[in-house]
Amino acid sequence: MNAEDQLEKLKQIKYELTRFMMIYKFALQEMETKIEILKEEFQMLHDYSPIEHTKSRLKSPESIMNKMLRKNSELSLSAVKASIRDIAGLRITCSFISDIYQVSAMLQKQDDLKVLAVKDYIKNPKPNGYQSLHLLIEVPVFMSDCQELVCVEVQIRTIAMDFWASLEHKIFYKYSQSVPEHLTRELKNAADKASALDLQMERLHREIKEIKDAQEDDSLAELREIVVNNQQFNLPASFIKLLGE
Ligand code: GTP
Ligand code: MG
Repeated sequence: MNAEDQLEKLKQIKYELTRFMMIYKFALQEMETKIEILKEEFQMLHDYSPIEHTKSRLKSPESIMNKMLRKNSELSLSAVKASIRDIAGLRITCSFISDIYQVSAMLQKQDDLKVLAVKDYIKNPKPNGYQSLHLLIEVPVFMSDCQELVCVEVQIRTIAMDFWASLEHKIFYKYSQSVPEHLTRELKNAADKASALDLQMERLHREIKEIKDAQEDDSLAELREIVVNNQQFNLPASFIKLLGE
């Protein structure tokens, strides 16, 4: 191949790679918008959101290549698309375990999304103590000339699970993946404590919600009454029915 052909070929590869990565970026943007909408809807209607925050990341072309080499896979874009499912990653942090399942159910219900796999590391934590709910979701991305179905890895976890996972990740990489045994033990111990904290917070959250709901029932009863000249009347039932229509 002469220099000119080589340059042309390189341009072509660069174009294809850019387009390939761009599609994953768009899929992430689609998912981020969906999460933002849910968050805002909850915040506006319930003064509470099951979503604390989100963070997205695109795997770099370099780590994609390294993963393909590790897997001994063929180095083509179609092989990458088929075998690497976490090029686009979205992490959603929630306050409570019940929020995780609520967010997961809301995403699974959306017609344009296809859930390819669910890994529940909360019901079945990893031996090291890792907990999170992983969803592999196929997102449609509409381009000028075609529609692409793009895989996004969504990790949903509590703040405590996230705190643990980021420290564990740092330690794992610091020791180039062979962590001293006492640290592995301590990490497992910390994971158990984080899990106990999550369960305790969940119980407290439920209890507080019950109290709040009861108070809302009381204020609803108050709203159905009008007081005129120290005399108490109930709003006419037919009027309330009319409002409900
Ligand atoms: P990968 O090939 O590494 O993506 O693993 P997998 O295809 O078996 O998927 P899995 O659902 O087990 O893990 C996917 C991602 O979850 C990882 O890339 C991490 O971001 C996260 N994860 C899984 N296990 C652990 C863990 O033990 N510690 C931490 N910190 N993160 C983890
Ligand atoms: Mg991964």
